[in-house]
Amino acid sequence: MKLRVGIVGCGKIAINHVTALNDLPEVEVVGVCDPDAERAAEFARTFGVPHSYTDLDELLGSGLDAVTVCTPHPAHELVVLAAARHGLHVLCEKPIAVTLDEADRMIAATDAAGVKFGVLFQRRFWPAAQRITQALADGRLGQPIVGSVIVRLGRDADYYAEPWRGRWDTEAGGALMTQAIHHVDLLSSYMGPAVAVRGRIATLKLGEFIEVEDTAVATIEFASGALASLQVSTTFAPGLGAQILVSDHAGHAASVAEFPEGTPGQNDIWTLPGEEQYRQVYSPEINSDPELAEIHTNLVPFHRLQIEDFVRAVLDDRDPLVTGREARKSLEIILAIYESSRTGDTVQLAAS
Ligand SMILES: NC(=O)c1ccc[n+]([C@@H]2O[C@H](COP(=O)([O-])OP(=O)(O)OC[C@H]3O[C@@H](n4cnc5c(N)ncnc54)[C@H](O)[C@@H]3O)[C@@H](O)[C@H]2O)c1
Repeated sequence: MKLRVGIVGCGKIAINHVTALNDLPEVEVVGVCDPDAERAAEFARTFGVPHSYTDLDELLGSGLDAVTVCTPHPAHELVVLAAARHGLHVLCEKPIAVTLDEADRMIAATDAAGVKFGVLFQRRFWPAAQRITQALADGRLGQPIVGSVIVRLGRDADYYAEPWRGRWDTEAGGALMTQAIHHVDLLSSYMGPAVAVRGRIATLKLGEFIEVEDTAVATIEFASGALASLQVSTTFAPGLGAQILVSDHAGHAASVAEFPEGTPGQNDIWTLPGEEQYRQVYSPEINSDPELAEIHTNLVPFHRLQIEDFVRAVLDDRDPLVTGREARKSLEIILAIYESSRTGDTVQLAAS
């Protein structure tokens, strides 16, 4: 019997979800929901989904096994809590939520309901990102002592034309909360628990149309004693992609670079003995600023891998690769950067 899945929120990233879900033979997408009735109906028609709803409870009560959540960030909690109430497994887009209290309620509710709860961080499924995880797991790369995240992207007025974007009350952050959270998630998965964060955010270029940050710098200290730096900005034209690098006590370094934005990460630096490799990811031949739709299309194979992992987790009764608890870590670091920037103090985290 097929897993009956619904999709909540019929905007841009929902296209990745429905495309990936429609590719999986174990799955049947049976319904979608969006407060905009026409958008929901059009989405259902386009992707061959039999039912569309404007009422969330109607979708959730329509005999589903699982839902995926593609609403703006501040609406993630209400959908995940409702899914848990209906006893449905739930896979939510990043960020998990916009406050730690929300994230904790989502984790507690899905635990109490005994349903699987995953959060979409599809960059975890890049082979180049998993190669670092594997090198750490088998000891070829030791516990990292130094790490860095660099995210240098470009955003413009068109991107922020979506009314919920660019405002603290409806997006809860900018370059960090929405773009760099993927790269912070990867760094955190390599470095282990973070214990202290100091940072500054600013709106240096895009202030004409956003109030959230377009730039952030921070230092992060980990329970292991390791240190990492972060430089994030959506002010670059052309965009220069992103890179996450870790290096161990022996001085060996591994990195994963994303250029242009949305394309699969590549190991541009790899100095593990006997495996040394350097790769130039930049080239004038490459279009450094693909349109958002192209960025999303390039992400589909990795959405597919993570959605497949989630479906297998449900069918095999195991945790998905990125659980709610795992996704909480990147949110905690980002909220600590905001707090540190506000207060000027170092923010201590409860190492978890
Ligand atoms: N994993 C990724 O790489 C990636 C990429 C883009 C967006 N996202 C995430 O996906 C989410 C949605 O982003 P988007 O760009 O698709 O936004 P969008 O604005 O294109 O679409 C959001 C949709 O949600 C609907 N919606 C709003 N409130 C709702 C509710 N309470 N119930 C049901 N539907 C509701 C809106 O009407 C809209 O159709 C965000 O959290 C974003 O961070 C993830």
